[in-house]
Amino acid sequence: MGKGYHKKQKERKEFLEKQKRLRKKRQLRKEQKVEKKLQKKVSLQNAKEAKEDKEKVIPITKWEERQNYQHFLKRQENHRISASQRIRELLEQSKKKKQKRNNPIKKRNVTSDSFIDESTDNEEEENIDDNDDSMNNNKKIKKEKEKEKEKKLKNKNNNNKKKSIENELEERLGGAQFRWMNEFLYTRKGSDALEYVETNENAKKEFEDYHKTYNRIIDENWPMSPIQNIIKWLGKYINENKNKKNLVIADFGCGDAKIARYFNSNKEKFKTHCNILVHSFDLCAINSYVTPCDITNVPLKDACIDIAIFCLSLMGTNYHQYLEECHRVLLPNGIVNIAEVRSRLLNLNQFKKLLHWLGFDVTKVDLNNTHFITIQAIKSPNRQPVGVPFNFDGTKILKPCAYKKR
Ligand SMILES: C[S@@+](CC[C@H](N)C(=O)[O-])C[C@H]1O[C@@H](n2cnc3c(N)ncnc32)[C@H](O)[C@@H]1O
Repeated sequence: MGKGYHKKQKERKEFLEKQKRLRKKRQLRKEQKVEKKLQKKVSLQNAKEAKEDKEKVIPITKWEERQNYQHFLKRQENHRISASQRIRELLEQSKKKKQKRNNPIKKRNVTSDSFIDESTDNEEEENIDDNDDSMNNNKKIKKEKEKEKEKKLKNKNNNNKKKSIENELEERLGGAQFRWMNEFLYTRKGSDALEYVETNENAKKEFEDYHKTYNRIIDENWPMSPIQNIIKWLGKYINENKNKKNLVIADFGCGDAKIARYFNSNKEKFKTHCNILVHSFDLCAINSYVTPCDITNVPLKDACIDIAIFCLSLMGTNYHQYLEECHRVLLPNGIVNIAEVRSRLLNLNQFKKLLHWLGFDVTKVDLNNTHFITIQAIKSPNRQPVGVPFNFDGTKILKPCAYKKR
C-alpha cells in the first residue's frame, strides 16, 4: 500500500471523526432547538432515534465507514428536510391559530429547498415566540376590553335603573306628600291651614312640591287644564270689552300664580286698550307674584276688583267665607268665575243657592267638561247678602276631593 493510500485513509478517518463531532454538535443543537421550538411538542421518538443514531455510529470497518459516510450524508439530508418540514408544520400551525383569531401573521418564504441555518432558525423561533406573545397580548387586551365594555354596560344599566327608581320614588313621595297636603287643606278651615304654613319652616318647599305634582296630574290626566280654560276666557273677555281701560283681577288660591304670570308675559297683547292688574292670593307665596294670606281675609279694600277667580281653590271647610270675602272686594256687577272638581259637587242647586245667599246672581254653569265644572256669577248690584243659615255645612255641597293613588 502506498503512502497516498494511508494518507487518504487518515484523511478519511479525520474527516469521519470531524463529521462525527459535527454531527454530535448538530444533534445536540438540534435537540436543544427542537426542545425549545416545539416546547415539548417534538416527540421523544426523535430524541430516541437520534440517540440510536449516535449509538449506531460506532462500527468502523472500512466498508462500514464508507457505508456510514453515505448514511451520514443521507441522514443529514433527511434531518435537514425533516427539520425544515417541522418548522413549516409549526409555522402552518401557528398560521392556522392566528387565522382563527383573525390575526394575520407575517409572511414567510420557507421552501423545502431552503437552507435553514442557525440564525434563521433563531429568527423563526423568535418570530414564533413573538407571535405567540402578541397573540397572548391581543387575547388579553381583547378580554380586558370586553370586561370594560361589560362593566360600562352594567354601570349604565345600574345608573338607568337607579335613575328610574329615583324618579319613581320621587314621584311616589311627591304623590304621597300631595295627597297628604290635599287632605289637610280639604279638612280644615283656611285659618288653620294658614297657621300651619306660618309655623312650619318647610312649608314653602312642601307647597312647591304640591304644585309641581298638581300641575303634573292636570297635564297628564285631565283633558283640559281648568286654569288655562279660565285664562282663555279672560283673554276673550278683555277683547270683547274694549271700552274697559282698566281691569283688576283677584286670583283666590292662586297656587303658582298662573294668571298673573300669563298677563305679565303677554303684556303687549292687551296693552293698547286695557291695563290689567292681577292680585294673586294663596296660603304660601311660592313665587314673587303671590301675596300670602288666608283668602277669608285678603288685603284689599271693599269693592275694588272687576273679576274674581277661584280655580279649584274652594278647599277649606269654611269655603263659603272665601266667597263672602270675594263679595266684599268685588265691584257691583263684578264677575266671579269658579272652576271646581266635578266629583266634589254633591248638589249643584244647593251650590247655586249658596251663591244667592252670599249676594251673587249665577249667570252661567258649564258642565261640559268631564273633570271640572265652571260656574259664573255676578255680584248682585241690588241685593245684599243674607249669609248662610246657622247650621250650614259646606261639605254637604262640596265634598273634599280625594286624588287617586297612582
Ligand atoms: C288646587 S290648588 C289650585 C291652584 C291654582 N288655582 C291653579 O289652578 O293652578 C288650590 C290652592 O288654593 C289654595 N288655598 C286653599 N285654601 C286657601 C285659603 N284659605 N287661603 C289661601 N289659599 C288657599 C291652596 O293653597 C292651593 O294653592
